[in-house]
Amino acid sequence: MKVTKALILRCFLASLFLSLPFVFLYLLFPQQPHHPITNKDLKIRPGYSSYEAYIQRQLNKTLNPKLRKIWTTRDWNRKIPVFARFFEDLKDKSLLRNSSKALCIGARVGQEVEALRRIGVVDSVGMDLVPYPPLVVKGDFHNQPFPNDTFDFEFSNVFDHALYPQRFVAEIERTLKPDGVCVLHVALSRRADKYSANDLFSVQPLVELFRHSTLVHVREVDGFGLDTEVAFRKKGEPRHHL
Ligand SMILES: C[S@@+](CC[C@H](N)C(=O)[O-])C[C@H]1O[C@@H](n2cnc3c(N)ncnc32)[C@H](O)[C@@H]1O
Repeated sequence: MKVTKALILRCFLASLFLSLPFVFLYLLFPQQPHHPITNKDLKIRPGYSSYEAYIQRQLNKTLNPKLRKIWTTRDWNRKIPVFARFFEDLKDKSLLRNSSKALCIGARVGQEVEALRRIGVVDSVGMDLVPYPPLVVKGDFHNQPFPNDTFDFEFSNVFDHALYPQRFVAEIERTLKPDGVCVLHVALSRRADKYSANDLFSVQPLVELFRHSTLVHVREVDGFGLDTEVAFRKKGEPRHHL
C-alpha cells in the first residue's frame, strides 16, 4: 500500500515538473491570440513563424518611406472621393450618420478617415500598427485599444491582413455599441496581396464569425482591388443618453 502511495506521489510530482515549461510559456505570452481557424472558405496563409514575424511583415510595407511618401501625396486625393462615395451610400441606407462615432481599422495614413470627416462624420478616427496623427492612432486590430461599446460604426478593408480572423471580428463586436454597424470591404473573386494573412472565398465565414450581429447586406463594390461590401449590425437595443 505504502509503495503504491509513493508511486502515485512520484508520478504526480513528475507530471508537475514536466508541465512547468508550459506554465512558463503561458506566463510569458499571455496576450497571444487564439489559434487561427481555417475552414473551406477561409484559409490562413502558412509561413508566419511567430506573431512577431507577422507584425514585422506588416510593418515592412507600412513603414516603407518611399511608399508613405506616395500614399500621402500622389495617392492622397485619388482615394478620398472613392471612400466618400461608399460612405455617402451607407448614409443613404441609414447605416451611417453624421452623429456616428466612427472607427476605420487598418487605416494606414487615414484616407478613409479624411473621407468620413469631409462628408460630415466628424467624430471619426483610424487605427493602424503605425500611427498617423491626427487621423490615425496606434493599435493592433487583434487587441483594439478601446473600451467596450465605443463606436457606432466601424469600417475596414483589411480583413485579409488578420492572422486571427475570429479575434479581428470579436474585437469589432466588443468595441461596437449595441445596434452599431460594421462594414467590411473584402476580396472574394481574386486573391489579395502578398502581405495578406488569410484568403476568403465566400461571405459564409464572416457570417459565422459575427456571432453577435446580423447580416444587413452584401453587395458588389469596386474598392481598390476589393470586390464585395459586407455590412453587419450588432445585436442589442441602442442605448439612448438622457
Ligand atoms: C492594404 S493596407 C490598407 C490601408 C488603408 N485601409 C487604405 O485603404 O488605404 C493594410 C493596412 O493594415 C495594417 N495592418 C496590418 N496588420 C494590422 C494589425 N494587426 N493591426 C492594425 N493594423 C494592421 C497595415 O499596417 C496597413 O496599413
